[in-house]
Amino acid sequence: MLKRMKYQFLLGLGLLAAVAAALNGCGGESANPPSGETTASLMKARGLTEDDVIAALKTYTPSGKHDTHYLIASGGHSGQVIVVGVPSMRILKYVGVFTPEPWQGYGFDDDTRKLLADASPKGTNLTWADTHHPALSETNGEYDGEHVFINDKANARIAVISLKDFATTQIVRSDLLRSDHGGAFVTPNTEYVIEGGQYPIPLDGSHVDLDPKNYADLYRSVIILWKFDREKGRIAPEESFAIELPPYMQDLADAGKLDSDGYIFLNSFNTERAIGKAVEGSPTLESGASQNDMDYLHIINWRKAAEVAKQEGKTSKIHDMTVISLQTAIDEELLHFVPEPKSPHGVDVTPDGKGICISGKLDTHVTVFDFAKLKQAIESKTFDGKDDYGVPIISFKDTIRGQIQVGLGPLHTQFDGQGRAYTSLFIESKVAQWSLDDLELIDTIPVHYNVGHISVVGGDTVKPEGRYLVSLNKWAIDRFAPVGPLLPQNFQLIDISGDKMQLLYDMPIGLGEPHYVQIIAADKIKADEVYSPVGFNPATRQVDPHAATSEEDARVERDGDTVDVYLTAVRSHFSPDTVRVKQGDTVRFHVTNLEQTHDATHGFALNHFNVNISLEPGKTANFTIKADEPGVYPFYCSEFCSALHLEMAGYMLVEPAEAAAEQPAEASAEQPAEAMAEQLAEASAEK
Ligand code: CUA
Repeated sequence: MLKRMKYQFLLGLGLLAAVAAALNGCGGESANPPSGETTASLMKARGLTEDDVIAALKTYTPSGKHDTHYLIASGGHSGQVIVVGVPSMRILKYVGVFTPEPWQGYGFDDDTRKLLADASPKGTNLTWADTHHPALSETNGEYDGEHVFINDKANARIAVISLKDFATTQIVRSDLLRSDHGGAFVTPNTEYVIEGGQYPIPLDGSHVDLDPKNYADLYRSVIILWKFDREKGRIAPEESFAIELPPYMQDLADAGKLDSDGYIFLNSFNTERAIGKAVEGSPTLESGASQNDMDYLHIINWRKAAEVAKQEGKTSKIHDMTVISLQTAIDEELLHFVPEPKSPHGVDVTPDGKGICISGKLDTHVTVFDFAKLKQAIESKTFDGKDDYGVPIISFKDTIRGQIQVGLGPLHTQFDGQGRAYTSLFIESKVAQWSLDDLELIDTIPVHYNVGHISVVGGDTVKPEGRYLVSLNKWAIDRFAPVGPLLPQNFQLIDISGDKMQLLYDMPIGLGEPHYVQIIAADKIKADEVYSPVGFNPATRQVDPHAATSEEDARVERDGDTVDVYLTAVRSHFSPDTVRVKQGDTVRFHVTNLEQTHDATHGFALNHFNVNISLEPGKTANFTIKADEPGVYPFYCSEFCSALHLEMAGYMLVEPAEAAAEQPAEASAEQPAEAMAEQLAEASAEK
């Protein structure tokens, strides 16, 4: 192995030397590299090892060259999604999802403002999210590059992002859940987007005091299966359903595939039903929830559940959601348990769908269940007993394929295309590589530090590509220049293509807490270059009925005290560039970028009214303001679009109501200067 690395290194050196020689030979002046630097002198000056240079050669992406993969990352508390190129680890985009994103105008136009408002529970205005698990849409168990879904753990929401334009198109939520963690995950053909709850609550949303009996009898969790309508690219809440679950704290989920297609596997902890110190003398939640050696892996037959959800009399409606009760789930044989050690976190189905890997946070093993044995037990009704709610419990020892000791604090497992699995070890700050075939440890690599999730290219599909692994480290400690007590977190890129894992790159993420990522080959994503035809509204995914699609079409129309401004943008002017309204008017702007040139984006920024709109080529956006304060309000293009970008500006004039009342309405709109002069005179007289 070392020999090969040395060879690669020498090859790299040779290439660099050849490039330098060519430059020196033809240019006369030795401009690049400067001052006669050589790879060897640079290595010496910067204290770089051979491994460093090999890592650099594997990740360096010259200007103009594209990355081979996209990493789709949770943006943590920002409520955004971060798109990163691999292997360069260059940030390509932040996508506004659960929170406003000013540059994209997300949350500033009428459609996305409504999208965000509707995504808040009644009477609230949520301005953050705890984004956790991005899930790329799948066809036949492989990423298809069409959509990505992501959950907000804090408020139990699921968002849909289109990968045509990397923009959020929908957010759904149900009052059945106040928190989620087992989401977003998709079934192999994205029939459903899975959202498993985390902290049990009374499902009707009422107040029920916290004591052991109430908790056991009246608190519940649910798992929601959001139906995804592929044709519309939207979740259909009316075709979605939930399954009631016992008041355990459900954790991560994964969908079965191939052999185990049709099933969902959902972890749980706190099957002890500890409630912290709500009752005097009881232990803390962490200690109470860690008493049992085993918790329960929930095995849910989603295909059968989808049938039951459609049957008359088998469901009820809670908060407008179709709910299969726990009793019905048991009667219809939709839900089974198998014990899993101990306070587990990750559940990950192997690429062939035959194995289910469980990482027990407080266990040193990864446990691999054999799906065929689980299915056999379910079909033959061979159970060890039932839990307190009557859910049948399958035998642990009869259904495991085996266990592998990986180290301290195993959390999540991913797979490559060569029969190897990778498990993050939180306590040891390592990633373990092991063989799926014989459950033997192959290699470990230290990571810096406190790794949570890991992700391999295609690592949770039926055909993982392998090649790269990204370790999402919660602590960075000494990795980067200090920036105060709040440190960035660290994405570490690891090459897993060879016999030994090699650390390639540290990427600080100054926007936390990024929780999980998925990595997809770049050629699977077919993103649009412009919005077409002109007038396309990305929020509604169709041509906007209010779009002015040519400058001739640009106009202002008044109906009572409502003014519609049909405005166009093209390098380097707005039409119209003067908008006269009256105090008290409701002004509805419909702004269209007429350009179809790649990257010819304009912005529309209007001071005082908290408006910034992004106008990518062909896009139409609508926004509404109430012209309450008389005055003169400049607007301007907020994208540096051309040499005359600063000249791409105009005025909105809000005439005072008194002045408007004194004159005929038409005249006042045409001659605001007089009214303004009068007002100015009055104002200066007052001073
Ligand atoms: Cu258009 Cu700047």
